[in-house]
Amino acid sequence: MQNLLNDISAQASAEPDKGNVATYIPELAGIDPNQFGIAIALADGQVFTAGDADVPFSIQSVSKVFALALALGRVGDQLWQRVGREPSGLAFDSILLLERENGVPRNPFINAGALVTTDTYLAGSSPREALGELLRFVRAAADDDSIHMNEKVARSEIATGHRNFSLAHYLASHGNLRASVDKVLGTYCHQCAVEMTCRQLALAGRFLVDADDMLALVSIERRRRINALMMTCGHYDGSGDFAFRVGMPGKSGVGGGILVISPGRASIAVWSPGLNRYGNSKLGTEAMELFARKTGWSVFGVPHMQIEGDV
Ligand code: DON
Repeated sequence: MQNLLNDISAQASAEPDKGNVATYIPELAGIDPNQFGIAIALADGQVFTAGDADVPFSIQSVSKVFALALALGRVGDQLWQRVGREPSGLAFDSILLLERENGVPRNPFINAGALVTTDTYLAGSSPREALGELLRFVRAAADDDSIHMNEKVARSEIATGHRNFSLAHYLASHGNLRASVDKVLGTYCHQCAVEMTCRQLALAGRFLVDADDMLALVSIERRRRINALMMTCGHYDGSGDFAFRVGMPGKSGVGGGILVISPGRASIAVWSPGLNRYGNSKLGTEAMELFARKTGWSVFGVPHMQIEGDV
């Protein structure tokens, strides 16, 4: 496993086309695209890393996975009255379907759906309390109390997030937000501004692997459903392509991070800030494609190849 991660990291670093760093959140625009990290946390808690796996990055939309777990914990299946479970086939920040579908977003991972998810775990608490709950969840999953939010990134997004404000107002006009638009956006942008290293994110992702020590956080049935949504919607209009190339559930963020789950086996975090045309990490996706090919790990079939050495 260590050799494989070293090879993948070396190959990623040698790739000349790193994709484009997201610039619409000003605080993220200056990130050096020449960074690549990967970490894998096995079901038993063993961790392997390579490259810049200990450099913190903005997890952005990867946070939507933790938010979904919290929202489901709060209201269970009632969530599905306010947000769908179908891929949208459109960009993560698209408003197009909201009008046609009466303010019910297609899924919890596009921005509109994530705003409803945030509104759900925010219900009845202050943004500070809700964000405290989110941080507690992430820290418990990663077993790391040093994980925090980057206030500058959150403020930078709140100051410029006209599209998200539009989505939130549109949701509110359909009665699909309980808290005020300002509260929901403030909470959502702070949630997206959680920073983690690949090592921390891989460990936090173990709550979606069948790890014995994680059962208290999310039930087995719920874990399966979150993984299913990651597979079908986790990469927005690039979800089909990611499933085709990688064959494992994944959730991306515009900070360049991707969390990938091999159910029963491992949680993998990969990070490289340059994005492809879908707004997902370019090198991260390529690295995961190589990883899947080399290990044979896929939810769509049994491993056809064994990697060298013990895993
Ligand atoms: O709402 C936004 O636009 C960002 N805070 C998160 C978007 C994101 O990460 C999309 N993922 N690839």
